[in-house]
Amino acid sequence: MSAGMRAVRIREFGNLATAGVVDGDAPVPGAGEVVIDVEAVPVNFVDLVTMRGAYQFRPALPYTPGKGPAGYVSAVGPGIEHLKVGDRVLGMAEYGGYAEKCVVRGDQAYLLPEDLGFVDAAAMSLSFDTAWMGLVERGRLAPGESVLVLGASGAVGGAAVQLAKALGAGTVLAGISDPSRFQQVANFGADDYVLQSGPNLRDTLRDRVMELTDGRGVDVVIDAIGGDAFDGAVRAVAWRGRLVIVGFAAGRIPTLKMNYPMLKNIEVSGLQISDYRKRAPELMRECFDSIFGLYSKGLLTPPRSETFALDDWRRAVEALASKSTRARLVLTP
Ligand SMILES: NC(=O)c1ccc[n+]([C@@H]2O[C@H](COP(=O)([O-])OP(=O)(O)OC[C@H]3O[C@@H](n4cnc5c(N)ncnc54)[C@H](OP(=O)(O)O)[C@@H]3O)[C@@H](O)[C@H]2O)c1
Repeated sequence: MSAGMRAVRIREFGNLATAGVVDGDAPVPGAGEVVIDVEAVPVNFVDLVTMRGAYQFRPALPYTPGKGPAGYVSAVGPGIEHLKVGDRVLGMAEYGGYAEKCVVRGDQAYLLPEDLGFVDAAAMSLSFDTAWMGLVERGRLAPGESVLVLGASGAVGGAAVQLAKALGAGTVLAGISDPSRFQQVANFGADDYVLQSGPNLRDTLRDRVMELTDGRGVDVVIDAIGGDAFDGAVRAVAWRGRLVIVGFAAGRIPTLKMNYPMLKNIEVSGLQISDYRKRAPELMRECFDSIFGLYSKGLLTPPRSETFALDDWRRAVEALASKSTRARLVLTP
C-alpha cells in the first residue's frame, strides 16, 4: 500500500475552477470500515448536482465526490470479518470515490463475482440497485406480473427493464420519448413501448397501457421521470398495483389526487436509495447479491461505459453536464 494517494478536491460549490486533483495521505480505516484501492468509479448526475451545491445534502467543504467506487480492499478496520485485503468489491459511499483510495463502511462494500469487471460494476452502481429496490422492495414485484418503466432508455430505467425480466416479470412495457428508442429497450427485454412525451399524456399514456394489457393495466410502475407521464401512469395501474416514484427527469414533480389510490386499491410510494444503505444494510446486501447473481447467470448486461483517467475527471463531468454521450462515464484512478 502506498503512503499517499491522489484525489479530486472540490473547494467551492458551483465553481469547478478552484477544484483539482491533490496529493494527500492514504486514508486509515476506522472501526467497521475498509479502504478500497479504486479501479473504477462512476461519474453520476447527482455528483454534478452536489458539486453545484444544489443537492438536498451538502458535504462539508472541501470534499471529494464519487459514489460507487469499485476496486481491491487494501485495508480493513477493527471489527471487519467478512472482508479481507485483496477482495474485489463494489463500495457504496456518499462521497470520496474520485480518488485512488476511498474509505467505505464495511457493511456497504459488496463482494464482486469473478466474472464482473470493475468498470462494469461501477457502471451498474446506483442504477441497478435503485431499480432492484424499486421493483422488489417498494414494488413487491411477483413472478408473472406486468411492469411499466418510465424513463426506460435511461440508466435507472434500463436497469429496471432488465431486472424486471430477470426477476420473472410477465409483460414489461418501456416508456420512451421517441419510437426510435424502442430497439434499445427491446434489447434489455422490453416487450413493447409506451410514449412518455407528447400532448395529453394523462389520456394517451393510459390508453396505450390499457391497449397493451387487455384493459387490465400494469401491476408495477417504476417512474423515473414524473411530470405528465406520471398523471397517465397512475391511471394505468391495475387493481392492487404499485407505482414507485424514483425521479423527476421530466422536470415537474407531479401531485396526486388521493381518490386514485382509494378507488383502485393501488399504492403510490417513493424510493430514495441512499436511505436504504444507511438504514437497511442487510437488505442492500441482499439487493447486490441478487444483482450480481443475475449477472453471473447471464441475465443482465452492464450499460455501455466510457472511461477517463482521474486527471481527466473534469472532462468526464463536462461530458455529463452537456449530455454529449449516453454512455455511463467512469473514472479509472
Ligand atoms: N430515488 C433515487 O434514489 C434515485 C437514484 C438514482 C437516480 N434517481 C433519479 O432518477 C432519474 C433518472 O435517472 P437516470 O440516471 O436513469 O437518468 P438518465 O440516464 O439521464 O435517464 C433519464 C430518462 O428520462 C427521460 N427523460 C428525460 N427528460 C424527459 C422529458 N422531458 N420527458 C420525458 N422523459 C424524459 C429520458 O428519456 P429520453 O432520453 O427518451 O427522453 C431517459 O430515459 C433522475 O431524476 C435521477 O435523479 C433517483
